[in-house]
Amino acid sequence: MEHSVPRTIDVTAPPEPPALQAPGLSIRDLHKSFGDNHVLRGVSLDIPAGQKVAFIGRSGSGKTTLLRLVMTLEQPDSGLIEVGGVPLGVRRVGDAYVPDSRRHVNEVRRNIGMVFQHFNLFPHKTAAQNVMEAPMKVLKQSKDEARAGAVALLEKVGLGHKVDEHPSRLSGGQQQRVAIARALAMKPQIMLFDEVTSALDPEMVGEVLNVIRDIAQETSMTMLLVTHEMRFARDVANRVIYMEDGVIAEDSPPDVIFENPTNPSTRNFLRAVLSP
Ligand SMILES: Nc1ncnc2c1ncn2[C@@H]1O[C@H](COP(=O)(O)OP(=O)(O)OP(=O)(O)O)[C@@H](O)[C@H]1O
Ligand SMILES: [Mg+2]
Repeated sequence: MEHSVPRTIDVTAPPEPPALQAPGLSIRDLHKSFGDNHVLRGVSLDIPAGQKVAFIGRSGSGKTTLLRLVMTLEQPDSGLIEVGGVPLGVRRVGDAYVPDSRRHVNEVRRNIGMVFQHFNLFPHKTAAQNVMEAPMKVLKQSKDEARAGAVALLEKVGLGHKVDEHPSRLSGGQQQRVAIARALAMKPQIMLFDEVTSALDPEMVGEVLNVIRDIAQETSMTMLLVTHEMRFARDVANRVIYMEDGVIAEDSPPDVIFENPTNPSTRNFLRAVLSP
């Protein structure tokens, strides 16, 4: 039987549909104050789908505030955040933006997962039950389906042997890995990590960073990682953003920022944090 297999690849063929691509993030001139403390002073940035971006900078430079705005835990004073082209928290009416319905905000936000410095697992639930909670409630998964997903994720973060333990019987690093599994269980396309290791004892930092590194390498999720671990930033990120006083002071590939930063203030910051 004859096969009509084309012998050349048609380079004009349309690219694969982007349906499986994680959505990117677009941030336009974001401002946020707390009282008279002008914390974010015009942050603009485009993060293409799948990119892994590390945020570094001094304490108080606005890194957490930026992530909390993306997570809709805070509202911007002005500026716009778009997730995969969809405005977050607002909806366009004519030339203006008006507050979006709670329901639609939640739908857009469902694409985004966050892991914080201080993981707050439910103490009375096991590791698996912590991971199963949101998929059952929000994604309406059956108990069996949610349990199977939770076990797979806990195995992925190296906790296959701790599935039915309560948090009080887990180390800090193990608890943080449950928190990562819990965030992944919602199948987010964008993940935000805010200094996930800074509350941990030093010997547990490595196991958590390794899990995040593996996730970064294996998935097409868009990832924003705030970290004080410069080696980790260098290993995991495609791009490093140095924030200073509420603005992006430098936005460079890891090799550039760590070898030869373009902004002298990046250099000063790195010299201070990297010097023994
Ligand atoms: N909810 C809030 N109410 C009042 N001020 C706040 C609030 N959240 C943050 N701030 C202030 O905003 C500024 C930026 O804080 P933010 O937490 O974004 O900094 P950061 O870059 O994450 O710092 P760190 O590296 O210490 O985590 C700080 O001056 C902080 O005190
Ligand atoms: Mg912070």
